[in-house]
Amino acid sequence: MEDFRKHIIPHSHAVGREDRQRKNGHKAKVLWFTGLSGSGKSTLAGRFETYLHNKGLCTYILDGDNIRTGLNNDLDFSDESRKENIRRIAEVANLFIDAGVIVLTAFISPFKEDRQAAKQVVGEENFLEIFVDCPLEVCEQRDVKGLYKKARAGEIKHFTGIDSPFEEPDNPDVRVSTAKDSLEKCLEQLIEKIEPQFRL
Ligand code: ADX
Repeated sequence: MEDFRKHIIPHSHAVGREDRQRKNGHKAKVLWFTGLSGSGKSTLAGRFETYLHNKGLCTYILDGDNIRTGLNNDLDFSDESRKENIRRIAEVANLFIDAGVIVLTAFISPFKEDRQAAKQVVGEENFLEIFVDCPLEVCEQRDVKGLYKKARAGEIKHFTGIDSPFEEPDNPDVRVSTAKDSLEKCLEQLIEKIEPQFRL
């Protein structure tokens, strides 16, 4: 079979990431939030984005349920689909980096291998892994969307933490504990550890 990819030649445009970063006055990074459903990824990413946005930085959030409603609405929760979910998110995040934007991603992203692959796509120096650490029992007790109850009742198959695995990061750039610490405290930790890294 002919390899159609060999006839694709990327174009290098005159305005590049460096130019956009200079215009925006800060570096672009991917802040990759990972954790169980209900651990607080979206809430925390949202709060951090608001903080950065109010300071005049260029930001954007890519969020699990939102992306799965549009771009990734063809993907289910099999291991293969989750892999493809993360692959596409990484490629989209990479475009945002090129656009000079700080992108905050909030996906369970349960597999180490897929998070590692995402890091390679955007470049190690651009990628910060944030582990939103919260025990399954606490997420299940919160059950904000009522999905754990459905998963326990067998109405949802392959639910992360129930009958689908979550592989914790071994060495995240930042670990916040939403079960032990308040949202404000977690936010402070993010500000302290991450904000300096946007400096040009
Ligand atoms: S991921 O595993 O592929 O990274 P993603 O973050 O996009 O997951 O989507 C997770 C969200 O989808 C959850 O917060 C939850 O609202 C919803 N969801 C629906 N079915 C499942 C399932 N089987 N496992 C996990 N989350 C599910």
